[in-house]
Amino acid sequence: MKFQVPRGTRDILPGEVERWQWLEERTRAVQALYGYREVRTPFFEATDLFVRSVGEATDIVRKELYTFEDRKGRSLTLRPEGTAPLVRAYLESPALRAESPARLYYMGPMFRYERPQAGRYRQFWQIGSELLGSAKPEADAEMIDLFRAILADVGLRDVTVLLNSLGDTVCRPRYREAIRAYFKQHEDRLCGDCKERLETNPLRILDCKVPSCAPVIAGAPSVLDSLCPECAEHFEGVKRALTALDIRYEVAPRLVRGLDYYTRTVFEIHAANLGAQNAVGGGGRYDQLVKDFGGPDTPAIGFSIGMERLLLAVGEESWPGPAKPDVCVIALEPGAVLEAQALARALRGLAQEPSRRRALVALVDTAGRSANAQMKWASRVQARWAVFVPPGAEGYAVRDMTKGLDEERQPSIEALRGWLSERRDAVEAVRG
Ligand code: HAM
Repeated sequence: MKFQVPRGTRDILPGEVERWQWLEERTRAVQALYGYREVRTPFFEATDLFVRSVGEATDIVRKELYTFEDRKGRSLTLRPEGTAPLVRAYLESPALRAESPARLYYMGPMFRYERPQAGRYRQFWQIGSELLGSAKPEADAEMIDLFRAILADVGLRDVTVLLNSLGDTVCRPRYREAIRAYFKQHEDRLCGDCKERLETNPLRILDCKVPSCAPVIAGAPSVLDSLCPECAEHFEGVKRALTALDIRYEVAPRLVRGLDYYTRTVFEIHAANLGAQNAVGGGGRYDQLVKDFGGPDTPAIGFSIGMERLLLAVGEESWPGPAKPDVCVIALEPGAVLEAQALARALRGLAQEPSRRRALVALVDTAGRSANAQMKWASRVQARWAVFVPPGAEGYAVRDMTKGLDEERQPSIEALRGWLSERRDAVEAVRG
């Protein structure tokens, strides 16, 4: 084999892709019910967009960007996340800016040069929602409610909502200094990475998974004790709103997240069965980002869900399984293939019936197989029926492949289409 899929990426093939389509359809429907509309931004952006938002000192920007120069020497980067591109698009669109608040979502691949492992890839997919234009705790609650609704709709209910506040531009710098001073006292007990973080990003030490750092982290002052009155009140408001919506949460004072744009609320949702990479998704408030990008003062909040992780957490039970063909049209003799193709096209019914209510999934063998081999193929693809051409004197012969039974012949294509689609509908009605 000359070529292999690049490290940290994967192909999503038929058999699995149906699960993705199912997840995408369900998520879109839930987003629509909450009034969120889709935005599709380019897969690459100016590098600076991510440096200025995600943050120069973060792992994402320091180690994980896919950055390249285009032919005119511009520095571009494959998007590692969707929030900064969405904010850029929002600022460039007068129509979006006129909506206040704007409720938007995106779905697509993101790129981070990380060490691949289960649930962590270099190209991975995210579903993300953003609400721009509200500073109210009720907006935070709407976000977490939407996040949970998406998970619940695909059958994931056993989750933990972790909630924290990182303060704002008033109280966070104070906390940063307090925690830097604390960790400085215990520098000799920190791992190499954390020693470096002491200078660049002391808050991230709270997130370190190296066991030897754990006891030092356990003794660190809590961010919640250093919130200014406004941030503390906002946090209380979020908790009140979540309780009113019957959403259980855990306050997690060590939750810091890996992007720098957050202010006040941050949250993650964890699923018990995901192992080390147990965050299905996360998000938070970013009240300064729109302004930092040169826009008007626009408080905002959002989250993203990792689609690979969500599918892992959902498991196999909830989704309905891949669709199977309704019909294989079998050419009984080599000269009948073209007739088989024409019949299959009529059964699909696209031209006759734009609503597609009676459209059937119809397949024809185009590999020149014998009639016998076509029948084997029809069972292999699990077609519900086989229909034979050319028709006999009494019309089209139909075989129910699930029972191996010959049904009554159908005198015309229209009769055949009606007969098949009625029975197909009945089967679907039973399946629900
Ligand atoms: P994030 O926590 O970096 O947040 O990513 C969100 C989710 O994307 C993670 O919880 C995880 O499920 C998934 N994810 C991240 N990296 C990988 C990876 N290498 N492989 C597989 N899945 C991954 C953000 O990206 C923010 N933009 C969220 C946000 C939206 N904040 C405000 N609005």
